[in-house]
Amino acid sequence: MQCVHTAPKLAFSITFLYCLSGVSSTSHYFTSMFSFGDSYIDTGNFVIMATPVIPVWIDKPPYGMTFFGHPTGRVCNGRVIVDFIAEEFGLPLLPAFLANSSSISHGVNFAVGTAPAMDAAFFKRNNIADKLLNNSLDVQLGWFEHLKPSICSSTDEANGFKNCFSKSLFIVGEFGVNDYNLMWTAKKTENERLINQGAVYVVVPGNPPRGCSPIVLTLFMSPNTMDYDGLGCLRAVNRVSRRHNALLCAALDGLRGKYPHAKIIFADFYQPIIQVLQDPIRFGFAAGGILRACCGGGGPYNWNGSAICGMAGAVTCEDPSASVHWDGGHYTEAIYRYIAKGWLSTALTLIRKF
Ligand SMILES: *[C@@H]1O[C@H](CO)[C@@H](O)[C@H](O)[C@H]1NC(C)=O
Ligand SMILES: *[C@@H]1O[C@H](CO)[C@@H](O)[C@H](O)[C@H]1NC(C)=O
Ligand SMILES: *[C@@H]1O[C@H](CO)[C@@H](O)[C@H](O)[C@H]1NC(C)=O
Repeated sequence: MQCVHTAPKLAFSITFLYCLSGVSSTSHYFTSMFSFGDSYIDTGNFVIMATPVIPVWIDKPPYGMTFFGHPTGRVCNGRVIVDFIAEEFGLPLLPAFLANSSSISHGVNFAVGTAPAMDAAFFKRNNIADKLLNNSLDVQLGWFEHLKPSICSSTDEANGFKNCFSKSLFIVGEFGVNDYNLMWTAKKTENERLINQGAVYVVVPGNPPRGCSPIVLTLFMSPNTMDYDGLGCLRAVNRVSRRHNALLCAALDGLRGKYPHAKIIFADFYQPIIQVLQDPIRFGFAAGGILRACCGGGGPYNWNGSAICGMAGAVTCEDPSASVHWDGGHYTEAIYRYIAKGWLSTALTLIRKF
């Protein structure tokens, strides 16, 4: 069963590094890529959607400092997981759907960061409702359906789009950070919706260990040492992440039974991060302050609701590539690169089996 799959072994990662540095033999696998999800894989939709409505600071430096050199709407210092996947398959980095890009033939990113995942305390303090932005997975799939005629040919359209997406990679996640209990069932339904529209290759990420995130560690700080595991993460929160992942994985097994032609891949977002936290130096990260955000406004985890990364008062660490956590709610490009490697090796192993 695929649910027990975790991050790649180190030897596998090293092989992958060689592959990534040369001309990729995987560049013919997919002709396009479409992604849905939240701030972990958003490449610009949130900034466009939120700017007229609510305060936004991910559109300011130091976001984007490591790779693009300027903020791009990615909630990261550089590239996010979908960028690394696109690079591996020789595809252009996915434009954000709301940017109205004219080059969408190789894919579009429909993911929209959900504000509360990023700055819960700020929004709570200012009484801004959680569901302010109309950006659910359902809405994102609606955008995709609306865009289909511009992506596919008229022949495809005449066939009910059945062949248009047979060489497309779909990434559906990450969701559920704000609603662990319900989202895995929604994910199952939405994945069915995609498969029924011709999606064959579907990658479904689980949840990361939220109990290790600087924002969660700050907001739910406890005087009771028993609330923390050996890594210093909040046990109860991580238990919920793991339960979400187990339920999601079981739901995906159900989907595989129902749609044997589809290649449904569970992408582990939890274990690779735990692996790095357990042994940061082995993976090229700094051992000290591994649970601290690189960019933030102070406090034990360098997350401060009054000085969030991008706001006045926040400072950035010297070497983001040695940090796991970027702004307290999101990860650095360095960890996204490592996670992407794991997903790619899982995906390629499965794809090559077919
Ligand atoms: C994208 O197009 C829509 C519809 O024409 C428009 O309302 C919106 O302002 C455009 N967005 C950007 C970022 O140009
Ligand atoms: C959200 O957006 C969808 C499509 O973009 C629209 O059909 C729906 O009415 C919107 N919902 C709200 C609450 O604005
Ligand atoms: C949080 O940021 C505010 C505003 O910059 C600052 O006054 C406060 O001292 C910071 N708190 C901590 C714990 O660093």
